[in-house]
Amino acid sequence: MTQDELKALVGQAALQYVTPGEIVGVGTGSTVNKFIDALASIKGQIAGAVSSSEASTARLQSLGIPVFDAAAVGEIAVYIDGADEIDARGYMIKGGGAALTREKIVAAQSRRFVCIADESKLVKVLGAFPLPVEVIPMATARLARQFAALGATAQLRLKDGAPLVTDNGQNILDVRGLQITDPLGFESEVNQWPGVVTVGVFAHQKASVCLLGTLDGVRTLSY
Ligand code: 5RP
Repeated sequence: MTQDELKALVGQAALQYVTPGEIVGVGTGSTVNKFIDALASIKGQIAGAVSSSEASTARLQSLGIPVFDAAAVGEIAVYIDGADEIDARGYMIKGGGAALTREKIVAAQSRRFVCIADESKLVKVLGAFPLPVEVIPMATARLARQFAALGATAQLRLKDGAPLVTDNGQNILDVRGLQITDPLGFESEVNQWPGVVTVGVFAHQKASVCLLGTLDGVRTLSY
């Protein structure tokens, strides 16, 4: 099975966590795109979605799924999203698609976080994947120095040769060389650094369940 097929497998499997009649929280990325495609097959049974990015909103709407503003709805039953890395405790690195801030907001608004990922995303220690951090542009150089003091290297993410601008009008630093053994503490610490909008460690908003696509089928990890 290809990685793409594993993503489709978990995207389809996530439908069992969608509550009929309710609004579902929807993440961002290639795995979530498979989920959105699967969700379209049951769109008549749900009230709609709250989306974590302009890209997911466009895909949801193109498939006829109503998208609600997060600020206009209350608690969401379930949030479905991918991850760049997930560990045995359900702590994750996210933001490879630059949508981490809205992803964390919708995750925080949801009772349950169902992570969908292929098995390559399961790691022992978070940090091999460059950690995305959404930052206020004027703080990029100072924050890069602050990460350097931890022995890490922060690089401004570019798109078409210019700094990538997120859906929120900010930039992304990708931080290499970290071994995040205390995800809760690390997230709390970096969140306090002036100029940080969102750090891509999802420890306070960790997964409740992970549907892991493997060559033997979907493995369900509960936390
Ligand atoms: C986007 C994310 C994605 O969930 C993460 O990058 C995984 O993406 P993919 O499913 O394409 O591997 O955090 O900001």
